[in-house]
Amino acid sequence: MRSYIVGGAVRDELLGLPVQDHDHVVVGATPEEMMAAGYTPVGKDFPVFLHPSTHEEYALARTERKTAPGYKGFVFHADENVTLEQDLVRRDLTINAMAKAEDGSIIDPFNGRRDLQQRIFRHVSDAFAEDPVRILRLARFAARFTDFRVAPETHALMRRMAEEGEVDALVPERVWQEISRGLMEARPSRMIEVLRDCGALARILPELAALWRMPASAPQAAAGARLLCMLDDAAQAGLDLPQRFAVLTYDLSAGAVSPQEDAAAALVDAVCKRIKVPTDCRDLARITAREHRHVARAGTLSAEDKVALFERCDAFRKPQRFIDMLQAAACIHGGAQAAFPQRDDLTSALEAARGVDAGAVARQLAERVKEIPGAVHRARVAAVEAVAAQRQR
Ligand code: CTP
Repeated sequence: MRSYIVGGAVRDELLGLPVQDHDHVVVGATPEEMMAAGYTPVGKDFPVFLHPSTHEEYALARTERKTAPGYKGFVFHADENVTLEQDLVRRDLTINAMAKAEDGSIIDPFNGRRDLQQRIFRHVSDAFAEDPVRILRLARFAARFTDFRVAPETHALMRRMAEEGEVDALVPERVWQEISRGLMEARPSRMIEVLRDCGALARILPELAALWRMPASAPQAAAGARLLCMLDDAAQAGLDLPQRFAVLTYDLSAGAVSPQEDAAAALVDAVCKRIKVPTDCRDLARITAREHRHVARAGTLSAEDKVALFERCDAFRKPQRFIDMLQAAACIHGGAQAAFPQRDDLTSALEAARGVDAGAVARQLAERVKEIPGAVHRARVAAVEAVAAQRQR
């Protein structure tokens, strides 16, 4: 039995990047031999084992046959006669299809090293088309390896996959997993561009793809280009995932023919439901889409308007989410690192309003319970007015 380090670890080492996980491929072994050597099998049908002491993953070299469209439609074939090259040829990209032997030598049958040097994402073989997740992976890698470009033949293959509906079979969890990882990379705009250019975006996130379908004469025609800049700005400023997702989806209604006031938040909901976006990301995106314009006008809002804004955002119970939304709004209106006085204004207003002791108000009105919410609200408005007057001085 021989084992090799494969995949991302080899790629990253050759790029001089820190290596996180080591994946191994084992050639010439049976599952029984692996278990006899102390490896623990992972899962039932998957020929992967955990090393007895390092707990790194060791997969038996395998070939894959496709049985049905989409992500779950694979049958794995692994036996001790499957060669390393047969295993590597079924991988996604040449830069991910290299192996490192125990003596340190690199096995590179598909010129992954050349493509690394030339900064090219190129698929290894037609097997790429068997797994539509690979389109998302490539797009995510484009956001990370920012000076790489997609080989023309790989671009053509991805276009075909999108046209033929392969992408429609992606399970929502995988779409979110890859999109969210891509958003956390250095230049998320490149992920969106790759998906847009191959036609996958129109299938996965049609609401977003619509931003690029505006006629040049439409007032929203530049919305897509602006969004890409904002996304990279958000990444550069180190915004977290919910904030980056909120930036991605803040203006989905710009792609609609006749956008309406609440359309943006409704579209956020539709997207989140479809790709199963986690609650924290969904909620921040929803309030950002709905409220960012109000935030941008903070200077003209009355104390009453501000408290109403806090109430709509549930900011008294979730102040941090509100602060996070302000950061997303800053990114949307002028830049994540630019001065955004609205943030200070609304932050100090929120602090003042939170300073109101709602419990004390409630105790005073113990006999007139129905009046409590109104009284708390008025006390908060008064606190916001007081802090605004102080700021003006
Ligand atoms: N792989 C593939 N097709 C997929 C997923 C994975 O061909 N849909 C192969 C690639 O060879 C990849 C390896 O499995 O390099 C390991 O996959 P994974 O650990 O998911 O990704 P990495 O390439 O290591 O990338 P990352 O740095 O993002 O973890």
